[in-house]
Amino acid sequence: MTVRLLAFAGSTRAGSLNQALLDLAVAEARGRGAEVTEIRLKDFDLPLYDADLERVGFPVAARELRELFFAHHGFLIASPEYNGSVTGVLKNAIDWASRPLEGNPASIIAGFRGKVAGLMAASNSPFGGIRSVTHLRQILGTIQTVVVTEQVLLPAASAAFDESGKLKDALPAQLLAGMAARVVEMAERLQPPVTA
Ligand SMILES: Cc1cc2nc3c(=O)[nH]c(=O)nc-3n(C[C@H](O)[C@H](O)[C@H](O)COP(=O)(O)O)c2cc1C
Repeated sequence: MTVRLLAFAGSTRAGSLNQALLDLAVAEARGRGAEVTEIRLKDFDLPLYDADLERVGFPVAARELRELFFAHHGFLIASPEYNGSVTGVLKNAIDWASRPLEGNPASIIAGFRGKVAGLMAASNSPFGGIRSVTHLRQILGTIQTVVVTEQVLLPAASAAFDESGKLKDALPAQLLAGMAARVVEMAERLQPPVTA
């Protein structure tokens, strides 16, 4: 089975350190045979979640994003830390993607259930975004995604990449490779259902 992973970061800004870290994780996963779809949440015209919007018709962008979650065995997520937690952009995307479609209440969280996720964060603080990743682990656990125990926290992130975008230090690079390898391995073992 070819493992299909969806990769995205919770930051939408140009020059995002989390996007840079994610790019390296994507390369690692591809090197282990996974097919990776990289998306930018900025490209989805997602409104802030509102149950009234959902009632009048699922927004097109939310439907597209939701379908992407369904179509992959797992996720690589880079999660910046804002005020000790995940970004609003990331949480909003997960909230929309977790919703059931009209007339099919059983499809709630179906795009997440049994899927495999690998998490990482880059931050300039010495803590490397650990609170964001810890909260994200809890959020994903709530919607029944299997988050691998390996995770990558990159402190002092502005100085962590060389000119070619590679990590300067061997340790985080090694941890990133290990995390990506585990996501691919777990997805192969669990074979979560995908719709396309
Ligand atoms: C509203 C806001 C809150 C932040 N709170 C934290 C924080 O709690 N911990 C932390 O390490 N960094 C915090 N930061 C700094 C971000 O982690 C930093 O800007 C990081 O580079 C964002 O990720 P990006 O480079 O991928 O955009 C905060 C930034 C913003 C804008």
